Amino acid sequence: MIVLGINYYFHDSSAALVVDGELIVALEEERFTRNKHTREFPENAIRECLRIGGISADQVDHVAVSIKPTHCWQKKVIYALKKPHKAAPFIKHELINGYFKQRRFKQWVADTFTGSKKPNIAFIEHHLSHAAGTFFVSPYDDAAIMAIDGSGEWACAWLGQGKGNNVTCFNESVFPHSLGSIYESVTEFCGFKPNYDEGKTMGLAPLGDASRFIEEARKTVSISDEGQIDVDLSYFSYQFWGYKRCAQKFYDVFGEPRAMDGEFETHHHDVAAAFQVLLEECALKMAAFLKQKTDASHLIIAGGVALNSVMNGRLLREAGFEDVYIMPAAGDNGTSIGAAYTLLHQELNQPRSFVHDNPYVGNEYSDEEIETALKRFKLSYRKSTDIASDTADLLENGKIGGWYQGRMEIGPRALGSRSIVANPAFPDMKDKINSEVKFREAYRPFAPSATVEGAKEFFDIEVEAPFMLKVCQVKEDKQSVIPAITHVDGSARLQTVRAEHHALYHALISQLGDRTGVPVVLNTSFNIQGEPVCESPRDAIRCFYSTGLDFLAIGSFLIEK
Ligand SMILES: [Fe+2]
Repeated sequence: MIVLGINYYFHDSSAALVVDGELIVALEEERFTRNKHTREFPENAIRECLRIGGISADQVDHVAVSIKPTHCWQKKVIYALKKPHKAAPFIKHELINGYFKQRRFKQWVADTFTGSKKPNIAFIEHHLSHAAGTFFVSPYDDAAIMAIDGSGEWACAWLGQGKGNNVTCFNESVFPHSLGSIYESVTEFCGFKPNYDEGKTMGLAPLGDASRFIEEARKTVSISDEGQIDVDLSYFSYQFWGYKRCAQKFYDVFGEPRAMDGEFETHHHDVAAAFQVLLEECALKMAAFLKQKTDASHLIIAGGVALNSVMNGRLLREAGFEDVYIMPAAGDNGTSIGAAYTLLHQELNQPRSFVHDNPYVGNEYSDEEIETALKRFKLSYRKSTDIASDTADLLENGKIGGWYQGRMEIGPRALGSRSIVANPAFPDMKDKINSEVKFREAYRPFAPSATVEGAKEFFDIEVEAPFMLKVCQVKEDKQSVIPAITHVDGSARLQTVRAEHHALYHALISQLGDRTGVPVVLNTSFNIQGEPVCESPRDAIRCFYSTGLDFLAIGSFLIEK
């Protein structure tokens, strides 16, 4: 049975191909169009998925889409009618935009499925695509499920339980009561791009003092005993889809917002810190309801808010579950996978067999294709017989390199296939990469990749973290050993790497460990600031020559400046 999953309605358009229950390939459209978080129809991602799977359109049995476009439309109309003077942007966003999205999808269906055999087209509710979709690709047969994002059709959070082939919804929080939208508002307040730069807000939080504003922040939202979100909307204006997400009251209480690229003032740090703590407290309360209701040992966290790895780390430590599962593309990019698996298991009752424990589900370029690109650009390179060893030598000597190896990762984090790598033992490495390579804010930390075997020696974590989505503490005596990946509060956004998932990346980390005694590599995404992660060898070469990288390890080839 062949299922093509698609997210075309929300941001981070994507496609996924599932054949007989196995995720063959999943791709984000942004990698091809080079437009980060793109909302464009994922035509490149779909075409590549079918090509890599060797599947023609007439072989596709089902197309699973991560939205039910008509879901809750009456509620939307009533909502708009209640505030007619503020309804114009809302109507534009919800109805006009929605109309054009649907028209594009119908056109794609008509252009693609031209034969006599037409696939079944299944529209799956957005939060079900997040929640059920993540549960079905998790390693668990029974788990509590929490999905939180900005908003889907109308829901903003979904709490329930998964058992075998079924998920049950306990309750939903609906628009405009959204934790995701509050965090986006704070992101905008801090001078970053909302719905885009929430990771920067999370990184800013440890620089601030949460206690200064936490009491005021707590007044903006409460969580009921059943885990439902209730926002005091007088602080916000995101609910009108206007140009600003915060209302005047927010500025009266928390101070002036930071202009984009403006100077940071202490209160910006403190507000970021307070709302990060608030998010964690809300999620903990929702998790406490789930724990009491299900008594499950494991928790699924899904939706864009699940990319808040600091929140996930706290849920892991404090919510009473043995472990948490988050898929690598926890945002809307993963809903193409989620819609496909929700259809497969919940609706078609197919047996479960696949676990999404490996993020390397993208496309790949052969050495032959890479060498063709290197020759076309008339570059001097050498072929390495052991690229992991040669790269480890360069890292040992303080060089910073592009590491382009194997199948591309899915999700916003580079996880060792399209990464910039460095040696975290050098104290000045963070500042060097921020200023010479990434051209970004000096405070922003970098993440470590450690071998699964070596992680516990350096990090305070008992479980695996293959997708860099569980923040933990660096052990106190190791913080000075790996300063470049230790944040100001002693935390780190760890990735643990298994040899069976990425043999070459595991070999690189191990070989650096053999040379230095520290099996940890600094890992940041291989991209030019503001662009998506590199997709093609051409992207990698372009990034290499547009930044202060010292070398590029691409396939078996090594280029040094
Ligand atoms: Fe979402």
